[in-house]
Amino acid sequence: MRYASITDRLRGLGSGKWAVHFEARRRAEAGDAIIELTIGEPDIPPEDDLLDVCSASMHAGRTGYGIGGGADPELAEAIAAKYSRRTGRTILPANVLAFPGTQTALYASMMGLAERGDEVLVGDPLYATYAGVIGAAGAEMRTVALHAANGFHMRAEDLERAITPRSRVVLLNSPHNPTGAILTRPEIEAIGEVCRRHDLWIVCDEVYEELIFEGRFVSPFDLPELAERSVALSSISKSHAAPGFRSGWAVGPAEFCARLLPVSETMLFGNQPFIADMTTYALTEPSPTAATLRETYKRRAELVADRLEGSGLAPLMPDAGMFILVDVSGVGMGGEAFAWAALDKGVAVMPGASFGEQAKDFIRISLTVPDEDLAEACGRLAEMARAPRTERQIA
Ligand SMILES: Cc1ncc(COP(=O)(O)O)c(C=O)c1O
Repeated sequence: MRYASITDRLRGLGSGKWAVHFEARRRAEAGDAIIELTIGEPDIPPEDDLLDVCSASMHAGRTGYGIGGGADPELAEAIAAKYSRRTGRTILPANVLAFPGTQTALYASMMGLAERGDEVLVGDPLYATYAGVIGAAGAEMRTVALHAANGFHMRAEDLERAITPRSRVVLLNSPHNPTGAILTRPEIEAIGEVCRRHDLWIVCDEVYEELIFEGRFVSPFDLPELAERSVALSSISKSHAAPGFRSGWAVGPAEFCARLLPVSETMLFGNQPFIADMTTYALTEPSPTAATLRETYKRRAELVADRLEGSGLAPLMPDAGMFILVDVSGVGMGGEAFAWAALDKGVAVMPGASFGEQAKDFIRISLTVPDEDLAEACGRLAEMARAPRTERQIA
């Protein structure tokens, strides 16, 4: 039978990137004791009151179809209020679309802004699903190198050099996965100026907005001069430790939302009323879960740095998020080889190359396991790094 080309474009995307993770799972199922530091999922449950609101909403009969539109009306008000507070402008429900997670919001945004013949610019390293959402739209991904020496922050001049007449969208991610970097206001202003000059959209994935340890969050959408070309995407997955609820949104110009609405309705047929109620409730107060996670992940990033001290492995302290990158080149190995060797020592980490060429000297460690496990894992990595080279390669 014949299939549409999207199935070819997306086939196999990402499977190689997760090879260490899948092998770790296979070994764990076979009985090996593996400390898994590959994927990042908040390691605490959502607050009880969120679950209670969700359950009460279901018992109150909010289990039918949503009423359509960009979002359930109360949820749209709650999201608009959050962004009005953040931007200092009046953000209306017409500026909001609800989606099942940032991921779907990314997918729909790319479908609405780029297509075959267009290019989408994205920093390298990048979050693992970006190639897929860009490819799904039929557009081409063009990477802009983010440099380790510069803390992996995107530089406007590097962006501008990568722009061609086919460029349509810059996909930013701040705070950034895997590097934990947060774009500063001057950096966003400079990137924004380039986007204005070349008439580009800015789509910013801000899913880690509430997990910032160091520095201030700034979004292109919050800068009035960029608001007409900027879209902010986020969710409660990280801020409320609630990824399974699949509750996210896109906030942008009213015309963007009006154009995207049929795309969203065609896919989703409205959003789930009981999830909307729980999200509305979640967004009305600062998240206590986010406060806990900020403190926990910062402490664990420091623990990693402490345990690796003097081993030749060089951690890059994140300013936000749930991961830490570690440069392994000092021990004479690439990130990929190091990750496979670490698996033989019972520690599963992601090779940096899974996130792009610029991270190939790094491994990414997830901070979402208990401190004791993380300390044990780092002890093993440090020991491995200190071992004579021949021994490491045999491992
Ligand atoms: C950078 C980034 N964007 C998006 C997502 C997906 O978020 P959501 O659960 O809101 O779809 C993740 C999840 O890890 C992420 O790291």
